[in-house]
Amino acid sequence: MVTVVVGTQWGDEGKGKVIDYLAKGCDIVARYQGGANAGHTVITNNKKHIFHLIPSGILYPDKICILGNGVVIDPAALLCEISNLEKEGVKLSKRFFISENAHLTLPYHKLLDQIEDKKRGRRKLGTTGRGIGTSYTDKYARLGIRVVDFLNEKVFREKLKISLKLKNYLLKKYYEEKVYNLEKISREYQTYRKKIKGYVIDTSLYLNQALRKKKNILAEGAQGTFLDIDFGTYPYVTASNPIAGGACTGLGIGPTKIDRVIGVAKAYTTRVGRGPFPTEFKDEFGEKLRKLGNEFGATTGRPRRCGWFDAVLVKQAGIVNGLNSLAITKLDVLNSLGKIKIAVGYRYRGRKIGQFPNSFEVFSHCEPIYEELPGWKRELSGIKKYGDLPKESKNYLKRIEELTQVKISLISIGPGREDTILL
Ligand code: GDP
Ligand code: IMO
Ligand code: MG
Repeated sequence: MVTVVVGTQWGDEGKGKVIDYLAKGCDIVARYQGGANAGHTVITNNKKHIFHLIPSGILYPDKICILGNGVVIDPAALLCEISNLEKEGVKLSKRFFISENAHLTLPYHKLLDQIEDKKRGRRKLGTTGRGIGTSYTDKYARLGIRVVDFLNEKVFREKLKISLKLKNYLLKKYYEEKVYNLEKISREYQTYRKKIKGYVIDTSLYLNQALRKKKNILAEGAQGTFLDIDFGTYPYVTASNPIAGGACTGLGIGPTKIDRVIGVAKAYTTRVGRGPFPTEFKDEFGEKLRKLGNEFGATTGRPRRCGWFDAVLVKQAGIVNGLNSLAITKLDVLNSLGKIKIAVGYRYRGRKIGQFPNSFEVFSHCEPIYEELPGWKRELSGIKKYGDLPKESKNYLKRIEELTQVKISLISIGPGREDTILL
């Protein structure tokens, strides 16, 4: 059985927490896209872990964790994460695997990502600077270096030489920046190769064999629906397909094998980086919610922009992901509020819009139409059953279900595993 877990907003919905919770009942957790731009937080026994590349199921000693072909892998970042986990006694051997077909993020991808974003000036995207867009660009330009190429020293050197010729020309002549040395990278990556080699397999084959043995697979999405290259707020998006469809192409499993798609949505909305955000708080309330929700990026530490729950967006996420259900996170962050708003539609140049507009021009001028609901003004910690939630919380959740047309299957009322209500 395959369950896809996908972000329904602009990332940071709490996918890491939900994956960690659901992983208990699964055999394999597999990341299908993105790279070290992700920051997935898992808290167990009061210890906080932030995973960038490693799947969020790694803390269970008996779960298999996989980086699929759709992920872009920065070997330096990956080895740093592996070493941190090993220091804590987490064993990865024989249970962590990397796809031969995944593409590498190399040092020049990171530098070029940062330079290019700066050069966009007023139209800067505010990328994470982790070389994501530049790695995927090379993948599609047929210039990328795959993990399987990396394992063969000769092939790696040959491909790297071609890439460096192009990248160094661009860096030197156009950007007037430092250039990269083939020998230096080759040497550095020689040590990475030795450390990574043992993890590399044909992950598509592995997953399909596991499915034949009736294993349960959790496909872990990074980023979120509105950062999707096709369905997000283009160009203010990431360079991959976080939507559920990305799980098939990013893991090499057929669409007929997907059984369930769970969308993770925060009880309000956040966004890091630039781009339109209709329900964003423009006043000091944004600061208040940022503090209440501790909304600072798990990868870059940047303050996250905060706003009310946008039902138009999550409804659209329900459609493009084919969501079976929603996991609502961070409900507890709203505990102290007297009134809570939900965007139920937009107003654009006097006209009402009930659906997410594909035009960036339209979306960036949309004013939210709000519905106001009473808050519960109560702590939720310790609640284990839906029935024990305050009636205002239940009303809020019910309204989210009605507006998004997706039913809720999980409610998170705190960052820990135990702060979870399963419906
Ligand atoms: P992800 O990228 O979707 O995995 O989300 P992040 O880890 O970047 O951000 C989610 C943040 O919210 C993390 O700091 C989590 O520990 C925290 N979190 C997750 N669920 C809850 C919740 O229900 N309540 C509270 N208060 N915090 C939560
Ligand atoms: P998780 O998996 C939130 C945002 C960046 C920027 C845009 C493009 O933790 O939810 P990129 O570096 O991908 O080219 O940046 O996407 N972004 C994220 N925002 N959560 C993430 O991942 C993100 N990954 C990228 O801030 O706006
Ligand atoms: Mg995150």
